[in-house]
Amino acid sequence: MSAVIYQIYPRSFADSDGDGVGDLQGVRAHLDHLVWLGVDAIWLSPFYRSPMADFGYDVSDYCDVDPLFGTLADFDALVADAHALGLKVVVDWVPNHTSDRHRWFVDARASRDADHRDFYVWRDPSPDGGPPNNWVRAWGEQPAWTLDPATGQWYLHLFLPEQPDLDWQNPAVAAAMHDVLRFWLDRGVDGFRMDVLHALGKDPALPDDDPELLPIPHSALNHHRSTHDIVRNLRGVLEEYDGDRMMVGEIFLLDTALVATYYDGGEGVHLAFNFPPLYAPWDAASWQVQVEAVAREIEPVGWPSWVLSNHDQPRHRTRYGSPARARAAAVLLLGLRGTPFLYAGEELGLEDAEVPAERAVDPGGRDGCRAPIPWDATPTHGWSTADAWLPWPPDADRRDVASLRTQETSILHLYRRLLTERRTSPALTLGEQELLRAPDGVLAWQRRADGDERRVLVNFTGEAVSDGLVGQSTGWAVRVSSDGRGEAGPFGGTLRPDQAVMLAPAVE
Ligand code: NOJ
Repeated sequence: MSAVIYQIYPRSFADSDGDGVGDLQGVRAHLDHLVWLGVDAIWLSPFYRSPMADFGYDVSDYCDVDPLFGTLADFDALVADAHALGLKVVVDWVPNHTSDRHRWFVDARASRDADHRDFYVWRDPSPDGGPPNNWVRAWGEQPAWTLDPATGQWYLHLFLPEQPDLDWQNPAVAAAMHDVLRFWLDRGVDGFRMDVLHALGKDPALPDDDPELLPIPHSALNHHRSTHDIVRNLRGVLEEYDGDRMMVGEIFLLDTALVATYYDGGEGVHLAFNFPPLYAPWDAASWQVQVEAVAREIEPVGWPSWVLSNHDQPRHRTRYGSPARARAAAVLLLGLRGTPFLYAGEELGLEDAEVPAERAVDPGGRDGCRAPIPWDATPTHGWSTADAWLPWPPDADRRDVASLRTQETSILHLYRRLLTERRTSPALTLGEQELLRAPDGVLAWQRRADGDERRVLVNFTGEAVSDGLVGQSTGWAVRVSSDGRGEAGPFGGTLRPDQAVMLAPAVE
């Protein structure tokens, strides 16, 4: 619960073999950065065998490493090194769909009575010969169904046609996918990030979505209560193992009350991603609504999680629009009660890359946030070639790890100080949280545990603020300031524009 988890998108993290695509040896070679930074765990996005129609979220073999990323031996070495350095390893698990090249699907489409036919969701055409219902797939208003001409039936895919949905109503699917979890648990992984977990259970009747609400691919419309049984069984698999093996569910339902149901009284997920805050603008009132929703819906039933950026959304540095805001957002993320997820590169203040149309590769238009991580200021940025699979993010020769490490005032050092502060303060890691009444444009809260106390003030406005609670906080000392100024001194009672501070009671 007290961990901070750092997401690595393996294609974009670090390349060890000269092909311009990151790999597991590249990750292994840079674990020291993560230890220096002070995170507790890494989450690796998929590195399994895949034709890469969805860059690894289309898995053709769940129990092997794609040669692009290395080998199983590389994975074992990575886990061994990470554990030796005190880092836990969480891997992605993609249960809603396989690749269309997975041997199960290759078999399934061979004939209507193939062994694996019922691993997938097949239906006859609707009476007019079209798709069986009106569901639409992700990325484009197209049917979530593809006709397989050879067998005359349609198969369901909430994502690309190359990503056929598994049928989790079939116990054989559950058993086979549980074995996949065991395969990685046996190799020593500490947990799983579970892809589109909320969509596993489908209403067997596959009713049409309300046309008024379309298109909302794989959203609440496809959320079915049978998913909770599926999730409880997954939890059961984790509990066959010793230690703190955890699961974090990608619950892509933009409703915090629904997200909360996935904790299921301690029998569901350990953590659920709650995405509404990721869509909130840089605005105190909007964030207050989000923090209150989490306090109301999630805190009574489970431990919250917080995430500002990932491989599916424009980076928050890009969304919020300024370096000062990205710094204040770091204080926000690391000051709230719950498990923070950092997305590799946010500690460098990276913006999305500008990806010209001829270099765009992702069917979902998400290339910008997947730009490679610059490790140094040289033309190859510490990669084995300057020709990485995607263009570099802006200012890669200034916002690189090596350059920022030499600058105490950099955002990288801010993240490091925040992580140290968090780790050493019981109030910040596990403490209670109380929102405080703050002037307009400021979000303020207090954390408390075992006599330890911290107060966090975030100024979401471009103006200085010194009224109300801000001016009244002069009895506190600045532990961390988003602009790096005034740390270790008394808080002066004014927040500068877009400044956030983490305060501790002043020592008498
Ligand atoms: C969510 C993942 O984060 C995204 O990258 C992927 O495309 C979809 N699930 C489908 O697996």
